[in-house]
Amino acid sequence: MPLQGRRVLLIVTGGIAACKVPELVRLLRKAGAAVRCVMTEAAQEFVTPLTLSALSEDKVYTDLFSLTDEAEMGHIELSRDADLLVVAPATANVLARLAHGLADDLASTVLLATDTEVLVAPAMNVRMWEHPATQANMKTLRARGVQVVGPDEGDMACGEYGFGRMAEPAAILKAIESRLGAPTGPLAGRRALVTSGPTHEPIDPVRYIANRSSGKQGHAIAAALAALGADVTLVTGPVTLPDPPGVRVVPIESAHDMLTACRAALPVDAAVFAAAVADWRVASSADQKLKKTPGEAGAALELVENPDILATVAGLGEGRPSLVVGFAAETEHVVDHARAKRARKGCDWILANDVSAAAGTFGGDLNTVHLITSEGEESWPPGSKADVAARLARRIADTLGAASP
Ligand code: CTP
Repeated sequence: MPLQGRRVLLIVTGGIAACKVPELVRLLRKAGAAVRCVMTEAAQEFVTPLTLSALSEDKVYTDLFSLTDEAEMGHIELSRDADLLVVAPATANVLARLAHGLADDLASTVLLATDTEVLVAPAMNVRMWEHPATQANMKTLRARGVQVVGPDEGDMACGEYGFGRMAEPAAILKAIESRLGAPTGPLAGRRALVTSGPTHEPIDPVRYIANRSSGKQGHAIAAALAALGADVTLVTGPVTLPDPPGVRVVPIESAHDMLTACRAALPVDAAVFAAAVADWRVASSADQKLKKTPGEAGAALELVENPDILATVAGLGEGRPSLVVGFAAETEHVVDHARAKRARKGCDWILANDVSAAAGTFGGDLNTVHLITSEGEESWPPGSKADVAARLARRIADTLGAASP
C-alpha cells in the first residue's frame, strides 16, 4: 500500500468529470491513503456527498459557515491536516479563484489557507482550457509551485474534441503517489535537474527572440528519470507539452530566469541540459512596444551574450552535480563539434544530435544521438525521443548506482 498513512484532502468542484471522483476515492483508499473530501455546491449536482462519504469512510465538508463543521474541524485545520491537497476536477472557475486568491466558499478558502502542496486536475471545455485567461492563470499557478495532472485530449461531454478532459483516476493516483509515496527504482533517493524547451528573450512587451525547440526531448528525459524513482526538477521554457508525471516543473521564459531557477534547484546528483537556450538577448529590452518610423531604412537590435547555464553549473566547485550532461545541437561534423563542446563547457557527458533540416529532429519525435564521455563515444540507434530518454536515464542510474548515494 504505497500511500499507507498519508492524508489527502480532495477538493471536488463542479464539472461533469466529478462523476469520476468516486473511482479516484476508491483507488486512493485501496492504496492506503486517508481521504477527506470537500465539495463545492456545484460539485454536489454531479455526485452526492453521501457517495463520497461512504467511499472515503469520512465526513464530507461542504459549508464554509457550518457550526458543526467548524466545531469538528475549522477550514484552517482542514487544510493543515493533509499531506497533499488535490483539486479534481478543477474547473476553470476554481483555477481562476485560486490564481487570484479569492476565498468565497469552503473550497477556495481551504486552498488559500494552506501551505501544503496542491495538485490540480483541470477539466473543462477545450475553448475554456485554451482561453488566454485560463492559460494565464495556469502560468501563475505553476510558477507558484502548484502541480498539474492532465488535462487529456479527447472527446468531451459537450460534443467537442480537444484538451480539457480530466486525467483518468489512475493517472491522478499515479501523480499523487509520485508526491506522497516512497519512490522506488534505481534512482530513488537521487535528485535530478533537467532543462528543456526554448528560451524567450524579450525585445519589447510583445516581441521576443525564440527558437524552434519543442521541449519534447527534455520533457521525456525528466519523465524517464522520474520513472526510475528520481526526485526531478524540470526547468522549462515556454512549450505546449503537458507536465511530465511526478516531476516538479518550474516554468521560465528567459535564459537569465533559467539560470536562476537551475541554481535554486541545486544540489542535485545529476543535471541534464536539454534546453535550446538563446545564445543572445537584446541589450536592453524596451518597456513599451517599439514603433516603426515611416521611411526609416532599417532597424538594428543590439545583442549581448546570455550566460551559459550548462557551463556555469559544470564549472561549480562546491555544489557541482556528480554528473553533468549537455546536448550538442549540430548541423554538420556532429561528433567533432560535440567533442569540442564537451571540453569547452566542462560537462561529463555530451549527447550530440543532428539538427539539420534533413534530420527532422527539431519538433519531430525521432532523434539520432551520439554519446560522448571521457572514455570515448558511442552512437545510439535511432529511436523516439522517449527511447533516447529511457536509455539516458538508465545510463545515469547505472553510473550513479556505482557511487553511493
Ligand atoms: N546551453 C546552456 N546555456 C546556453 C547555451 C547552451 O545551458 N546559454 C546548453 C544547452 O542546453 C546544451 C549545450 O549547452 O546542453 C549546448 O548547446 P548548443 O546550442 O548546441 O551549443 P552552443 O553553446 O549554443 O554552441 P554553438 O552555438 O557554438 O553551437
